[in-house]
Amino acid sequence: MFALLPTLALLAIPALAQNSSSTTASQTDIEAIEAHFKQAELVPQLIEEFDPEAILTVSFGGSAISPGDLLDKDAVASSPEITVTPESADSDDFQAGKLYTVLMADANAVGTDQNVTEQTRHWLVNSVGISGDSAPYALNYTGATTITDYAGPGPLEGTGSHRYVIALYEQGDDFAAPSNLSTAGVALGTWFLKSYVSESKLGDLLAANYFQVENGQATSTAESTTPVDSATLSQAASTTGSGSAAASQTSGASAAASAAGSAGGSATSAAASAAATSAQSGAGKTGVAVGMIMGAVGVVGAVIGAAL
Ligand SMILES: *[C@@H]1O[C@H](CO)[C@@H](O)[C@H](O)[C@H]1NC(C)=O
Ligand SMILES: *[C@@H]1O[C@H](CO)[C@@H](O)[C@H](O)[C@H]1NC(C)=O
Ligand SMILES: *[C@@H]1O[C@H](CO)[C@@H](O)[C@H](O)[C@H]1NC(C)=O
Ligand SMILES: *[C@@H]1O[C@H](CO)[C@@H](O)[C@H](O)[C@H]1NC(C)=O
Repeated sequence: MFALLPTLALLAIPALAQNSSSTTASQTDIEAIEAHFKQAELVPQLIEEFDPEAILTVSFGGSAISPGDLLDKDAVASSPEITVTPESADSDDFQAGKLYTVLMADANAVGTDQNVTEQTRHWLVNSVGISGDSAPYALNYTGATTITDYAGPGPLEGTGSHRYVIALYEQGDDFAAPSNLSTAGVALGTWFLKSYVSESKLGDLLAANYFQVENGQATSTAESTTPVDSATLSQAASTTGSGSAAASQTSGASAAASAAGSAGGSATSAAASAAATSAQSGAGKTGVAVGMIMGAVGVVGAVIGAAL
C-alpha cells in the first residue's frame, strides 16, 4: 500500500553552529538544503539556480519544519514564522535597510512540468526587512507590501503530494513589481514563478525551504523523488553529534509527530532518530537510515490520507 505514497526522505534539521554573539549556518546545512531542492526536483525545474546563502527556518505554530516534511494542512493553515541564519556572520546579503521578497508557491507533485503548469501563488510579500542585531534574523514586515495574503495549502484530492516552496529573494533597487502584482490584496492565483522573478528583476534566491501536503491518495502513481545521499555532502562524514545537533533533530521529530497525529507519531520519531544516528555515524549507515525514514514517511502519508 505504500507504493503509491511519496517516498521523500527526511534529512535531520541542519545543526547550527553556535557563536556567542551570532549564529551561522554550517557548510553542511547549506549543502543539505541544496541537495533537498535537487532531489525533490525543485531545482532546476522550478528554480534554475539555487546557491543558498542562508538557512530559512520556517515554523508553524512554534514547530520548525524539516525540508520536505509531509504535513497536515491544518498544521500549515496560518502563516509561518520565519528566521534567517546566514552561512557567513558578516554577510553583505543580510543587513538592516536591505529589502527582500518572501513568497510561497505550490509546485504540485514531482514530475509536474513547471514550464507548462503554473504554480499557485499562496503568499507574496514585497519589501520585507530583517531585524535583530545578530543572526538568526527575524523578518520585519513593517513597511512591507503584502501583495497576496498567506493562504494555506488545499491541494485537490488525489493530486499527489504537493511541494510548497517558501523562498526569500533579494529585492534590489531595480526591482519593479509587475503592474498586476504591485498592490496589496491580490487574491491567491497562479503564475509562473520563474517569469515573475525575471520580469520583476528580483535578485538572488538567498534562502528557501519546502514542505509537502497531500489530500487523499494519488489516483495515478506519482513519480517519487530520490532520497538525499548525505554521503555526498562534503562535511557530513566529519560531522559528529553535538548537543545542538541532537536538540534540533529532536524538535524535528516532535514537529513531524504532531503533524502526523498520535497514530503516526512513534514511527516518525523512529525515523528522526534513524536520521540522527545516520548523521552522527557518518556515511556508512545512510542507506539503512534512509530506508527507515522512507517507510516512516509512508506511514505519515497513510495517516494523513486517511484523515482527509
Ligand atoms: C563569532 O562571530 C563573530 C562576529 O561575527 C566572529 O568575529 C567570531 O570569529 C565568531 N566566533 C566563532 C567562534 O566562530
Ligand atoms: C524549461 O524551460 C527552460 C528555459 O526557460 C529550459 O532550459 C528547460 O529545459 C525547460 N524544462 C523542461 C522540463 O522542459
Ligand atoms: C522594522 O522596520 C521599520 C521600518 O524600516 C523600522 O523602523 C523598525 O525599527 C524595524 N524593527 C526592528 C525590530 O528592527
Ligand atoms: C499579470 O499579467 C501577466 C501578463 O503581463 C500575466 O501573464 C499574468 O498571468 C498576470 N498575473 C495575474 C496575477 O493576473
